[in-house]
Amino acid sequence: MTKIRAAITAVNGYVPDYILTNKELEKLVDTTEDWILTRTGIEERRILKGEGKATSDMCVEAINKLLEKRGISAMEIDMLIVGTVTPDMVFPSTANIICDKIGAKNAWGYDVSAACSGFIYSLVTASKFIETGTHKKILVVGADKMSSIIDYQDRSTCIIFGDGAGVVLLEPSTDENGIVDSILRSDGSGRNYLHQKAGGSLKPASHQTVDAREHAVYQEGKTVYKFAVKNMADVSAEIMERNNLTSDDVAWLVAHQANKRIIDATASRMGLGPEKVMLNIQRYGNTTAGTIPLCLWDYEKQLKKGDNLIISAFGGGFTWGAIYLKWAYNS
Ligand code: UT7
Repeated sequence: MTKIRAAITAVNGYVPDYILTNKELEKLVDTTEDWILTRTGIEERRILKGEGKATSDMCVEAINKLLEKRGISAMEIDMLIVGTVTPDMVFPSTANIICDKIGAKNAWGYDVSAACSGFIYSLVTASKFIETGTHKKILVVGADKMSSIIDYQDRSTCIIFGDGAGVVLLEPSTDENGIVDSILRSDGSGRNYLHQKAGGSLKPASHQTVDAREHAVYQEGKTVYKFAVKNMADVSAEIMERNNLTSDDVAWLVAHQANKRIIDATASRMGLGPEKVMLNIQRYGNTTAGTIPLCLWDYEKQLKKGDNLIISAFGGGFTWGAIYLKWAYNS
């Protein structure tokens, strides 16, 4: 029997119109344009403005255009998985809300909470439903409205994050293209260095938690940076070795966009020059689960059928991992 692989057959993204520049951040916190650019590579990020606008709204924009591009209807979707740490509500899941908004009446789905690894965790999970042959069309979304959990008085976090959503369609492939291999890891002891203190069952919302600004991202940047550099580089090198890939075999590195210095370190460990590294951190900042599908969207026209892609991410949890996939289409 021919082995079924899960292939990405369409990609799309959405970023809000409002551009938050480094110059504007200079007015909010004690920072400089130059510090932000040299330490992170970020020039600007997008912010979702407007009463009643949530993560699902960005996803709906991205998905509706994807369906149009691929020429299929929402009724054909079997399943939808959303990687996010900024769900519209604690429950129900953002996946449920999106399915309702796009009219995907035959789909089921759920959210995956893995912070910046949310998209790769979701993609690997979805691929298993395709490989078993039970599902034919799955939307995998990575999206975060980070501005909803950022403290714009905290200069160590507010300069990094932005809002955005990306989506891919996964379908079965019987040629050799699609997801070939993946390595996913987690280490919950890392939770101390990157988390949101209040709003969960450990510390429900109260006047005190609001006053203490505990509903925002807390990050010990230097520690997270050290773990991110080591683990993202290690896992990317490991997946290459285990699949006998040399740097010449790899067409693209699609890395989580948290800090340009982390991406550079990963590329260097893999022996890749900058021409093989997808980069859009300068325009969107760190959109958490959104970065990887937004990269695929931005670079879609440059991707060729059969290209070997290494996707890798590191994030809160800690969570991290890498995926080796063969790109399945020419656009
Ligand atoms: O996406 C999921 C995982 N997250 C990450 O991968 C993020 C990992 N961490 C990072 O990217 C970096 O650690 C940051 C960009 C967050 C910070 O860069 P850094 O080079 O690690 O800076 P630092 O935290 O070591 O701080 C260096 C100095 C400090 O001043 P002193 O103590 O040396 O006087 C900070 O107070 O820079 C100061 N600083 C700033 N200065 C100007 C921190 N934030 C700012 C700022 N503007 N925004």
